[in-house]
Amino acid sequence: MKAAHLAEPFKIKMVEPLNMISREERQAALVEAGYNPFSLRSRDVYIDLLTDSGTGSMSDNQWAGLMLGDESYAGSNNYYHLAESVADIFGYKYTIPTHQGRGAEQVLFPQLIKKGQFVLGNMHFDTTKAHIEMSGGRARNFVIDAAYDTSTYHPFKGNFDVEKMDRFIEEAGADAVAFILITVTCNSSGGQPVSIENIKAVHACAKKHGLRLFFDSARYAENAYFIQQREAGYNDKAVREIVLEMFSYADGSTVSAKKDPLVNIGGLLIFKDDEELFRTCQAMVVPLEGFPTYGGLAGRDMECLARGLQESVDENYLAYRIAQVAYLGSRLRDSGVPIQYPTGGHAVFVDAGRMLPHLPKGQFPAHALANELYIESGVRGVEIGSLLLGRDPETGEQQDSPMELLRLTIPRRVYTMNHMDVVADALIAILARSKEIKGLEFTYEPSILRHFTARLRPIGNEPSALRVA
Ligand code: F0G
Repeated sequence: MKAAHLAEPFKIKMVEPLNMISREERQAALVEAGYNPFSLRSRDVYIDLLTDSGTGSMSDNQWAGLMLGDESYAGSNNYYHLAESVADIFGYKYTIPTHQGRGAEQVLFPQLIKKGQFVLGNMHFDTTKAHIEMSGGRARNFVIDAAYDTSTYHPFKGNFDVEKMDRFIEEAGADAVAFILITVTCNSSGGQPVSIENIKAVHACAKKHGLRLFFDSARYAENAYFIQQREAGYNDKAVREIVLEMFSYADGSTVSAKKDPLVNIGGLLIFKDDEELFRTCQAMVVPLEGFPTYGGLAGRDMECLARGLQESVDENYLAYRIAQVAYLGSRLRDSGVPIQYPTGGHAVFVDAGRMLPHLPKGQFPAHALANELYIESGVRGVEIGSLLLGRDPETGEQQDSPMELLRLTIPRRVYTMNHMDVVADALIAILARSKEIKGLEFTYEPSILRHFTARLRPIGNEPSALRVA
């Protein structure tokens, strides 16, 4: 299916110049960064597709809201506006602002997880998994097998294999499970959506076992848009209605407001109607994030978020947003670059395992591809594969990720279709010489969340050119 080339439903009021350095300068910058794009300085990056988190552009209406910040320590007007917006978009009664998504996780998870309990998800995001483990829990993924087959179309590659999860709960016992967490869209499987049918089935499974159900909803609006486009019976429903229906099946949600809600910083911990849990979390947010009516945010940030929530479900914006990502995906796919298909909401995930089959997982093919892309074009992507997965905490063995993906994450309302062409042209050029790309080995490997600060070198390169941290 050819992706539509939709024009941007906005015009540009302010521009931010991009810095373009030469290929030689990029090479030097990458050596300095220890062959790890996370350690590059942003001024050395031309098109930054590291993340869609906090990198979007705010609208004129959001910037106007910034001036209406009520910086009262307690009871800020902007908090009440934010709570109204949450009630309107999600249908939830209780709102706690947090500094970002993981702030909500650090408040909620310790209230729900007893040591050794499992948290069941489609596919947990890395900081979410870290917070589950820091609370004494164990994260388990139950995404459908189709998610791991990047070449075959499935409309909802974020769905749970509910039967498998149900069997797991039967065997482990419901007491061994803390709660179920649905990540929408499912970031780690490629920004892939979860259908309403599947959300309902997960809800029924949770009810059957007396378990609480939460969303991890950084990208709820993109998920709802995919439901509207792909799920029978939802074509004539508004995205707003679909979001309300999605959230009606859960008890609450952690929200990273840095994605769909279109702010540069912010998060939410929201509950449908569980007053007791809300009160407990409200007490905990004080030492962790701040007073419950600001939770680590300035009043002005809350105002931008209250407005961003409304913009997140604008259908003209969503149609353009999803089409832009699909456009990049279809250009790559049409030229033989293997990608997770169909493309997700926030990113195109290149299947580096298939593109660089000569590199074993332990040599981090997707990271090698990220480096090559940076050298080729100044575009920064991010590895989602074995480098990110890390070692088994018990045995210390390198774990093999089921997929070796290079995520090209598209910030919201920031880059144009011409930028997408630059990215596509670069990867298509690399495809022609992909056999020459070398694998990587560590010169410095941190013990936790190693991918952020690791230093590496291409295997077979002169070590003298590299500095070991
Ligand atoms: N959940 C999901 C699904 C996420 O994608 C993220 C962040 C978080 C939770 C944490 O939220 O960053 O506001 O604390 N994802 C970013 C990314 C960092 O690049 O995918 P946060």
